[in-house]
Amino acid sequence: MAFLFHFSPIIISTFFLMITSCIASNDQTPKPYIVYMGSPLNNSGDSAEISKLTHLQMLSSIIPSEESERISVKHSFHHAYRGFCALLTKQEATLLSGYEEVVSVFPDPILELHTTRSWDFLASYDSTNNYNYHASSNYDVIIGVIDTGIWPESPSFDDQHIGEVPSRWKGVCMEGFDFHKSNCNRKLIGARFYDIEDEDSTKLPKTTRKPNGTPRDRVGHGTNTASIAAGAFVPNATYYGLASGIARGGSPFSRIATYKACSEGYCQGSAILKAIDDAIKDGVDIISISIGRSFVFQTDFKDDPIAIGAFHAAERGIGVVCSGGNEGPDPYTLTNFAPWIFTVAASTIDRKFQTNVALGNNVTLKGTGISFNTSPHAETYPLVFGENVYFHPSLTSQARNCMPGSLDAKKVAGKIIVCMNDYWSISRLIKKLVVQDANAKGLILIDEQEKSSPFDSGNFPFAEFGKIAGAKILQYINSSQNPHAIIFPINEIRRFKPAPVVADSSSRGPASLTENILKPDITAPGVGILSAMIPNTEKGSSLFGITSGTSMACPHVSGAMAFIKSIHPTWTFSMIKSAIMTTAAISNNLRMPLTNTSNLDASPHEIGAGELNPIKALNPGLIFETTMNDYYNFLCYYGYKEKEIRLIVSKKNNFNCPRNSTSTTKKELISHMNYPSISIEKLDQNYGVSRVKRVAMNVGSPNATYTSSIIGPPGLIVRVFPEKIEFVKEIKKVSFDILFDGKNASKGYNFGFIIWSDGFHKVKMVFAVNVE
Ligand SMILES: *[C@@H]1O[C@H](CO)[C@@H](O)[C@H](O)[C@H]1NC(C)=O
Ligand SMILES: *[C@@H]1O[C@H](CO)[C@@H](O)[C@H](O)[C@H]1NC(C)=O
Ligand SMILES: *[C@@H]1O[C@H](CO)[C@@H](O)[C@H](O)[C@H]1NC(C)=O
Ligand SMILES: *[C@@H]1O[C@H](CO)[C@@H](O)[C@H](O)[C@H]1NC(C)=O
Ligand SMILES: *[C@@H]1O[C@H](CO)[C@@H](O)[C@H](O)[C@H]1NC(C)=O
Ligand SMILES: *[C@@H]1O[C@H](CO)[C@@H](O)[C@H](O)[C@H]1NC(C)=O
Ligand SMILES: *[C@@H]1O[C@H](CO)[C@@H](O)[C@H](O)[C@H]1NC(C)=O
Ligand SMILES: *[C@@H]1O[C@H](CO)[C@@H](O)[C@H](O)[C@H]1NC(C)=O
Repeated sequence: MAFLFHFSPIIISTFFLMITSCIASNDQTPKPYIVYMGSPLNNSGDSAEISKLTHLQMLSSIIPSEESERISVKHSFHHAYRGFCALLTKQEATLLSGYEEVVSVFPDPILELHTTRSWDFLASYDSTNNYNYHASSNYDVIIGVIDTGIWPESPSFDDQHIGEVPSRWKGVCMEGFDFHKSNCNRKLIGARFYDIEDEDSTKLPKTTRKPNGTPRDRVGHGTNTASIAAGAFVPNATYYGLASGIARGGSPFSRIATYKACSEGYCQGSAILKAIDDAIKDGVDIISISIGRSFVFQTDFKDDPIAIGAFHAAERGIGVVCSGGNEGPDPYTLTNFAPWIFTVAASTIDRKFQTNVALGNNVTLKGTGISFNTSPHAETYPLVFGENVYFHPSLTSQARNCMPGSLDAKKVAGKIIVCMNDYWSISRLIKKLVVQDANAKGLILIDEQEKSSPFDSGNFPFAEFGKIAGAKILQYINSSQNPHAIIFPINEIRRFKPAPVVADSSSRGPASLTENILKPDITAPGVGILSAMIPNTEKGSSLFGITSGTSMACPHVSGAMAFIKSIHPTWTFSMIKSAIMTTAAISNNLRMPLTNTSNLDASPHEIGAGELNPIKALNPGLIFETTMNDYYNFLCYYGYKEKEIRLIVSKKNNFNCPRNSTSTTKKELISHMNYPSISIEKLDQNYGVSRVKRVAMNVGSPNATYTSSIIGPPGLIVRVFPEKIEFVKEIKKVSFDILFDGKNASKGYNFGFIIWSDGFHKVKMVFAVNVE
């Protein structure tokens, strides 16, 4: 099957790396490990030479001298945190983890891009039309995008109408064989790459090395995310006539710095750690990361490169926004949920790519999909179910799913093939290639659960259905002598209702390591998004494409944060996070509660505080600011030893855990952090009462009186003390207590909102309380 070779570099290498890094190989074989040593000794960062020397000394103290060639560090971190990546045996790693100055030692993990499996076809978005970009910007925001690099020629990175690069910028524009200093401009102000060349190739003369050292994007994902966060205005953007309009990022006047830590669709944890360290040193304001480790491999915060990097970025006042993953819709599938990370879920927008199918019995069904039918009028073709055109009887169950090698090409040619899509490891792209390769005339996919992300099948007729419509199609095939069907050309529907809807693939909370923080935090558009892409010669030269995934949702929030920071330069990113959360929309364009793809009300474990609403977030009224001290205490409550925390935090020896945290109450105290949402992992029904505290900061007019009200489930009693809070010029912060009484509540998670209103603002704090 020749077509498979086309994709093998991505599919097979990712798979291979996952196996090699996750299934324990021989303990004696050296593997890359990350050694994390907490904050630098100097607050402004340790010197590169001194730290490298220290790291080499540590290595030579454990690596036997006959293997001295292994005494070398792959990456050394020394600006915002200390540590390095080196080849170690399991035994050596264990030895190093016992060192006084070491916080953790863990195998260098492989992380994934958070786009859905169709990420080789890209997209854009125009529902940010209401932004008032003419509002005077007071601050020049720099967004660091850690991703697959950038395609700098895209019109989204044009620097017209944008001023000089801020003088505080200390970054660089690294050159590669196909990337030059001139590829950076006043929009794309920095570019770095971390391609890891193997030892052998670095010894070769420069000209004969593998040409992999470049900030240039070869995958498309980094171009995509950067343009969603801060792409310039591009009139007449479209993907072959679809989604046409003005393309622009969330903050079109902000700057972009790209850090290429991923290539070929996967990312090395050590490269991400190095990229975050560099981004902090370079002077970015916001770091946007649409990457994560599968929830399956979630271990601990101190073994997680993104959580480590984001913690130290937060210490320096940088906002870190991450995608929550595409492993939904089951609960506990979320990643990137540390409290100092802004965790983003994905939803649909009001644009739907509809592809209709007419069956021979005159029944027309509305499906989804993106395909550009080149024939002028849609034609009727015979219709068959994959299961009935198997290549060999033993393959019927595979033929049902149109898996490679399972179909009889002779019986497939000239027909529209119906396949199930309930076997996750074979992507829609592969199924399309299987039937296209066998000269089929079209593909109809049937999902167990309706998929929200449209698949782009290029010129090949395609439509996708949920199981109800799917059953009608199968029944028709079964009951007809001569089944046939027509797949009509795509029909783009705008102002589709309801929208937004939680994307089926968006990962769900609760967060597996601690349920005392509500995650995800927020939802943003992540289905059928138009954004800049690398023009694909095979499909003409569209500069924009359509993609889906929390990868696309994350930069919407990064862009919104940049936009708010540019208007409110004195606000910290923790304040901006609160503003975005307490003003998020909780109803859809039918003025009904937000739903999921089962058409049921979406829970805060799916959408967090609700759907991003950047304009409302400019004027939130009250703010719940989470400080670094809250995060330090979180480390105590979570269960790290004080000694360890002193290594991690930049305050060093002055830090003490709160003395009132006894070991039995520790985890519960996490709920007391001044977070803009509330989660209580366990409220015992017999004892029934839990009390948490929050501090509200007034950012509206100085004289204000707010009154609380509750939207809650029946049975759960929620009381706020005091019910009314007052602010004057001298009093900007007021604390209040919230009491949850679960004696009469139903078991399991109870959700609701505490709403503070002054008659103008409506400050919504979402809560989740698990009654046991
Ligand atoms: C910390 O900074 C001081 C003064 O700048 C310098 O002398 C010292 O070498 C630095 N320490 C490290 C570990 O870089
Ligand atoms: C955009 O398209 C419109 C209508 O097709 C055309 O009038 C206009 O000149 C185009 N603008 C640009 C910048 O291409
Ligand atoms: C939708 O939400 C309901 C509860 O609100 C839940 O039971 C169901 O599993 C969710 N469906 C999906 C596809 O997420
Ligand atoms: C479908 O509609 C056409 C024309 O409207 C009609 O001739 C044909 O008999 C119908 N077929 C069925 C199965 O109803
Ligand atoms: C097709 O028909 C057969 C026998 O009439 C039945 O057993 C089978 O379940 C049917 N399949 C579908 C998908 O309706
Ligand atoms: C624990 O003590 C700190 C002061 O050390 C206080 O601010 C905090 O409210 C206390 N927490 C609880 C839950 O009593
Ligand atoms: C706020 O209230 C104080 C008295 O409580 C009053 O003197 C002041 O004028 C008020 N300010 C505004 C802007 O209303
Ligand atoms: C407990 O709930 C039941 C039914 O939901 C209700 O009838 C009863 O009044 C409640 N009791 C209290 C003490 O709230």
